[in-house]
Amino acid sequence: MTETSKLPAVDRDTPNAARMYDYLLGGSHNFAADRAAADRIKATVPWLADVARTNRFFLHRAVRFCVEAGVDQFIDLGSGIPTAGNVHDAARAMNPGARVAYVDNEPVTVASATALLEGDPLATISAVDMRDPDAVFAAPGVCDLLDLSRPVALLTVAVLHFVSDEDDPAGLAERYRSRLAPGSLHVLTHATGDHDPDDVTTIDSVYRNTANPSTPRTRRQVAALFGDTELVDPGLVDATEWRPLDNVGAQHRGLWAGIGRIR
Ligand SMILES: C[S@@+](CC[C@H](N)C(=O)[O-])C[C@H]1O[C@@H](n2cnc3c(N)ncnc32)[C@H](O)[C@@H]1O
Repeated sequence: MTETSKLPAVDRDTPNAARMYDYLLGGSHNFAADRAAADRIKATVPWLADVARTNRFFLHRAVRFCVEAGVDQFIDLGSGIPTAGNVHDAARAMNPGARVAYVDNEPVTVASATALLEGDPLATISAVDMRDPDAVFAAPGVCDLLDLSRPVALLTVAVLHFVSDEDDPAGLAERYRSRLAPGSLHVLTHATGDHDPDDVTTIDSVYRNTANPSTPRTRRQVAALFGDTELVDPGLVDATEWRPLDNVGAQHRGLWAGIGRIR
């Protein structure tokens, strides 16, 4: 089931975070401008691709945590171009009935996910700007798929650093959580300059000229995005340190990560 009626036009000339991330992960859904922007960063910040992989590894561990906690419905905001180990693949490996509502506002992402999910009754993609929670919850791919009277896993993974302070990311996160049943889980990663401030300044200077300027935040600022949720063990840590496994290869610090349980 898919929702494609609101596809924005593809702009091949302006680098885009979804397609740069796809390139960093070794995907093929990207254009020359995306590759050039990512390569400009990699020339001085070689660990950027490691952090992208770190984020995906965390996402997989987090999805498994949610399913083990009994949550079988996911809303994935800023879901990205489908790539190895999509949320519905990871969730269904443990619970074949898991439902996933993907949301993104990048046209290549939406087109790729639409093709991938064709004929799938339990996963959708909605073309909506996640800064508009009312529009997200009104999208058929969300409201017809998920039962909001039961717990949902709200995924904001590597997306809230693309929400500016002006757009009030903490208030936005709260607007989503306020619609979810107790026992729902808020999964979050967020870019930070806490460890490598000079490198992150370089990264930002490139993203400033893309469709998705970024706002890295300190640990304290990221902690505020969880509102009054109860952080599950080990709390808000670098993504490399959140319940790590020993088989994930090279990883680099640069993303705060955590899961908050909604009371
Ligand atoms: C770095 S990717 C992360 C993808 C995926 N969540 C993951 O962690 O693997 C960020 C994604 O957020 C999406 N995004 C950024 N701002 C958005 C917005 N306002 N509404 C919807 N999606 C957005 C981008 O299009 C991109 O696909």
